[in-house]
Amino acid sequence: MADSKPDIIDEGSLPAHVAIVMDGNGRWAKLKGLPRVIGHQAGMKALERTIDNAKDLGIRYLSVYAFSTENWKRARSEVQGLMGLFRYYLKGKIQRMHQKGARVRFVGQMDVFQDDILNMVRFAEDLTRSNSVIDVVFCVNYGGRQEILDAVSSLIRSNHDGPVTEEALRKHIYAPDIPDPDLLIRTGGELRISNFWLWEGAYSEYYFSDVFWPDFDRAELERALLSYAGRNRRYGFA
Ligand code: FPP
Repeated sequence: MADSKPDIIDEGSLPAHVAIVMDGNGRWAKLKGLPRVIGHQAGMKALERTIDNAKDLGIRYLSVYAFSTENWKRARSEVQGLMGLFRYYLKGKIQRMHQKGARVRFVGQMDVFQDDILNMVRFAEDLTRSNSVIDVVFCVNYGGRQEILDAVSSLIRSNHDGPVTEEALRKHIYAPDIPDPDLLIRTGGELRISNFWLWEGAYSEYYFSDVFWPDFDRAELERALLSYAGRNRRYGFA
């Protein structure tokens, strides 16, 4: 069967939650002499492909860093291009996600987005809420430090009584019901996490790929999964 897992990966060594920093769109475009926005368009195609591949492989949760709190500082035309892609995705792709049994969610400081985007986000989340084949989490206007600050503020507002434990704070992160990422992939050759899943990624396994995000394909995803399957996760124990 064309869509089955690589033989070496058994069910037990598949990560439940794969998180991805989709880096390298700009450099991919530059290499081809194209505008950066075209790189992001190709990145969107790679994202759709990766959602399908993750679903076929049996990954239960996929989260992607689609727009960081820092990305607003980019050229106006690039920010507009990314917002255009966000709208295009929300308008044109949600029904297909629903048919595939995907639950879509958006996490980050959402109140900065325009009303039409927020309405489509709410519609998409409501429509797909009961789906359980795969959860796809889009981190938009997301920053890991901001998430921790927001969690602390929310904890204080809740009049929490008693010691501030990890368990207590965890209830206030953006998606407390989603398990922490088991495998965090970053494409584009850079070896850093850039403020992504700072709390949740504490014990994630990292996989850094030199491939630019628009070229990320099934084979590269499988390489990351194979690497993960060979790791020995000790969570700080000997
Ligand atoms: C990093 O590449 C990528 C981004 C900042 C945006 C990622 C967005 C998509 C893949 C599609 C858009 C999806 C939504 C839902 C908005 P880079 O531009 O930093 O690449 P570079 O490091 O080569 O310059």
